[in-house]
Amino acid sequence: MNTGIQLAYLVASVLFIIGIKYLGKTKDARKGNFISAVGMLIAIVATLLTLDVLTFIEIGVCVLIGSVIGLYYAHKVPMTKIPEMVALFNGFGGLASFAVALSDFYLKSETNLASLDAVNLTSILLSLLIGGVTFTGSMVAYLKLDGKVSGQPITFKGQHALNLFLLIAFVAASVLVFLDPTQVTFIVILIVISLLLGVMTVIPIGGADMPVVISLLNSYSGMAACATGFILNNNVLIVAGSLVGASGIILTQIMCKAMNRSLVNVLLGGFGQTVATGGADGPAVVVKEIGVEETAMLFDSASSVIVVPGYGMAVAQAQHVIRELMEQCEKRNINFRFAIHPVAGRMPGHMNVLLAEANVPYEQLKEMDEINPEFPSTDVALVVGANDVVNPAARDDKTAPIYGMPILNVDQAQQVVFLKRSMRPGFAGIENEVLFDPKTSLLFGDAKDSLTKVVNSLKTL
Ligand code: TAP
Repeated sequence: MNTGIQLAYLVASVLFIIGIKYLGKTKDARKGNFISAVGMLIAIVATLLTLDVLTFIEIGVCVLIGSVIGLYYAHKVPMTKIPEMVALFNGFGGLASFAVALSDFYLKSETNLASLDAVNLTSILLSLLIGGVTFTGSMVAYLKLDGKVSGQPITFKGQHALNLFLLIAFVAASVLVFLDPTQVTFIVILIVISLLLGVMTVIPIGGADMPVVISLLNSYSGMAACATGFILNNNVLIVAGSLVGASGIILTQIMCKAMNRSLVNVLLGGFGQTVATGGADGPAVVVKEIGVEETAMLFDSASSVIVVPGYGMAVAQAQHVIRELMEQCEKRNINFRFAIHPVAGRMPGHMNVLLAEANVPYEQLKEMDEINPEFPSTDVALVVGANDVVNPAARDDKTAPIYGMPILNVDQAQQVVFLKRSMRPGFAGIENEVLFDPKTSLLFGDAKDSLTKVVNSLKTL
């Protein structure tokens, strides 16, 4: 029986690894998800066969309740709210590891103190720390992203020193638990510190940096699960936790690299505070506005077009009407492509997912290095709700917070059209000089509304 279970865990682990491999490419991502889900099913069934804590009916009822809630939210949550949902998932993952560690400690300290050896106790303490930080940190990240608390960084003097002190206090209390595991007070101190640390480390980080933080917390939830695997002596949990931990940290690094910022810079906080700039109704800003018909005529006479989608496309849910625009352009034999910046939007692959949802073929999506040389020979660059990822300040202005971030060179196209609602800046809170370039025109309004009108007008030409 035990060999069979271990074999099932091995198969599940292999399926997780194959699944992650497939997730590397958008077109194979569904397959990757499915393979991993099959692996998870095998792992769950194998685990259930080893447990005799609850009856199968009790477990079945819990699975049913969880599945109904999951299915409901999977359908209800809009694409723009996925980062919030991932934050909650991570938080509950951390909470689960935290709870398992506590209950294991409680059981052993009550009934089998001798089984609390160094490896077991270290795993419990690590699970408590990482799980607790992941839980409260993810909750703060969720509240910030959802606008339920201010997205502004909350900082005060001595904040980093306080965090360091809390960490040292955790280590000190852990030593005391090692010396006397029967002292409940020390465990209570550890619980309070780990939960407090999660809050304290996330509050100084601005709401706009939350996707990076969430990816990091995702990695923490994996590490916590891995530690829990050691507590429960469960190999598949150790493997799955390590995979989540490693992939989360790699994704975090990729995001930081694409923004040309270090992880330390993100974690120390204070980035993304909005800088006041002149709005459409603010002080004198000279920009050239364009109307719907004029924009349609621009497309009608173009021979090559590049669309640069950004966060605003997600907010407006304009991806379907963009596909209609693509079809209209292709009818006119216009060379039509999408330029995808790695950190456009608010989560990794944000634009790819939205455009895939609208059935835009993958071949139309060009990565930054591939598309940048094509801007100078492009008639129209249409920027749909993007700002920072096309801001030349990243290239030219050493004082800009985004300096060094690679950008899409829309300013090199023959004409640029921006779809946005106002003159408000993007995530980095800084002005974009392309908006004031004589070859740039602005079509103000919600991107979906504006594009729907442009496509309708194009159909009449
Ligand atoms: P942003 O620079 O944030 O610009 C978004 C633009 O969309 C704004 O100009 C906004 O202007 C416009 N907009 C918002 N809602 C709109 C709507 N309904 N219709 C039309 N326009 C709308 O976005 P970006 O260019 O995609 O850059 C992403 C930023 O997020 C980068 O700075 C990146 O570093 C950061 N970031 C990304 C990630 C990932 S993984 N993607 C993670 C962390 C941080 P109005 O308000 O005037 O409409």
